[in-house]
Amino acid sequence: MIALFSLLAALLLSLPSAAFTLADGRECQSLGGQWHYIVDPMDTGIYKYHMTLQKPSKRYFADRHFYSDKTTLIEYDFDKAPTLSVPGDWNSQCDRLYFYEGSVWYKTTVPFQRIPGRRWFLYFGAVNYQCMVGLNNTILGTHKGGFTPFWFEVTDVLKEGENSLIVWVNNTRGVSEVPTINYDWWNYGGITRDVLLVSVPEVFIRDYRLRFDGSVVDVEVALDGGSGSVSLEIPELKIIKKACAGKDGVAHFRFKASPGRWSPENPRLYDVVIGTASDRITDRVGFRTIKVDGERLLLNDKPLFLKGVALHDETIGLNPGRCRSEEDARALLEAARDLGCNFLRLAHYPHSEEMVRLAERMGFLLWEEIPCYWNIDWTSEETYANAENQLMEMLGRDINRAAVIIWSMANETPCTPERLSFLGKLIAKTREVDPTRLVSAALQKEKPDFYHPVVEDELIGLTDIISFNQYYGWYDGKPADCDKITWSIPSGKPIVISEFGGGALYGNHGSDTELFTEEYLELLYRKNLSMLAKIPGLSGLCPWCLKDFRSPKRPLTGIQDDFNRKGLIDEQGRRKQAFYVMRDYYSSVRF
Ligand code: GCU
Repeated sequence: MIALFSLLAALLLSLPSAAFTLADGRECQSLGGQWHYIVDPMDTGIYKYHMTLQKPSKRYFADRHFYSDKTTLIEYDFDKAPTLSVPGDWNSQCDRLYFYEGSVWYKTTVPFQRIPGRRWFLYFGAVNYQCMVGLNNTILGTHKGGFTPFWFEVTDVLKEGENSLIVWVNNTRGVSEVPTINYDWWNYGGITRDVLLVSVPEVFIRDYRLRFDGSVVDVEVALDGGSGSVSLEIPELKIIKKACAGKDGVAHFRFKASPGRWSPENPRLYDVVIGTASDRITDRVGFRTIKVDGERLLLNDKPLFLKGVALHDETIGLNPGRCRSEEDARALLEAARDLGCNFLRLAHYPHSEEMVRLAERMGFLLWEEIPCYWNIDWTSEETYANAENQLMEMLGRDINRAAVIIWSMANETPCTPERLSFLGKLIAKTREVDPTRLVSAALQKEKPDFYHPVVEDELIGLTDIISFNQYYGWYDGKPADCDKITWSIPSGKPIVISEFGGGALYGNHGSDTELFTEEYLELLYRKNLSMLAKIPGLSGLCPWCLKDFRSPKRPLTGIQDDFNRKGLIDEQGRRKQAFYVMRDYYSSVRF
């Protein structure tokens, strides 16, 4: 299947480029709702019976197999097919798709009325894992990567009245993919985030990037379709500026300003209004600085301790699935708030834009990550291009979010030269595009001697902080062993524990030496917190994790039942005893 995608990708339109800012003032129509779907495990929609590739043609989507006006044999008929909610993963919506990995075809109709002088884009928040999009029998293009946005211009493809939108989605895992075939979360497939029809003027403000270094604001505004005069206003700061977008369509602004600073205690946001003769967008932006000063983290030049927790993009509830709305995100953020957090590690892939924007409004600092997870194909150029594309799409979407302070390249990856060069290139690319934020990755410890773990990884030379995962008391020994552990970690950079913790089934009580009891987990947290607090330069903690989450690697019947049980709350949001240990600790942290 994977080879198919690259062949198709090569054959079809180029992959999306740059960024497309979604901000207030954009005319967006959500295409969410009930979409018809056809499950296609044999990829009949792609292959002829001799496994030769269907020739992609202008009429590829409509005529071949699904609608044939040549014969009466109709075996693939969307109108007779059941429906799935979009946005939404298919696994949690339909029992027979619970474990499903493969192809699913989605169809919906899009009513349309043309307005002179406007252009239209189809914007997908995220589709897991790869997809091909067709409108009115025209293939718009393809996308790979399950957690970042992409879009296609459809101005010339749309027709008055009803338009047929068909999306082929495939979540088959692959060795050379990102993530690769082995990971500890549910491979939720489908059109997992909203689909928008966005209407813009012929010359429109496609994207803007804002930087603040503590006294000077730099803004780049990219127009699409032309050049001309651009205005930038920050009304609350009585700032009104004008600049001209040149042939490249980019206008540059640079000016001094002293806005109130964004921080967890005071998540202050300002309206930033960008206008042209024909277009106008307003975004809510925070102004803050984030730096490292030796072993200290400085937010707005003040020392910062990250009271964090890691979480997956998965709803709270008996039958969780990918978050589909701001409400889903709010439930998770309120649980993190109750834990006393000021920081979230959004693991191990970009979460939704709703999550990021709401977290920013609620005052959470954010760590965002691309799914270079465990051992990906470090030597494959295609894998690198895929990883870099996901990175650029993540940065493009969230580069104006003050809440985001750390870009993470990877999680628990092997210390090989190929990996170092792969991640080194991603880090260089990140610094080129965004020199204002910290760059890191979740590293691992080595334990040449069980009681003297060592964190030594050449990647530390390239990152701004030292962040690593450790599981003393769970994968390594018993909670009591923590008392005898001494760490050797390079000095000179802030240290953030990006994961620690253990599993427990909510309500499962017993001795504190019995795995999966609440008592065991409580003790594990107490012991880990006192062990970690002794580490010089410790600037943050991120327990793994906020909520029990689905994983096909966790089958233990009666205890796990397809859930990783390392949450401080269970899948229904019920607090485990360890939750209170962590909350008390965070309320005691003084910096
Ligand atoms: C790893 C990994 C997580 C995983 C966790 C666990 O460190 O980064 O994705 O879920 O450990 O084993 O529970």
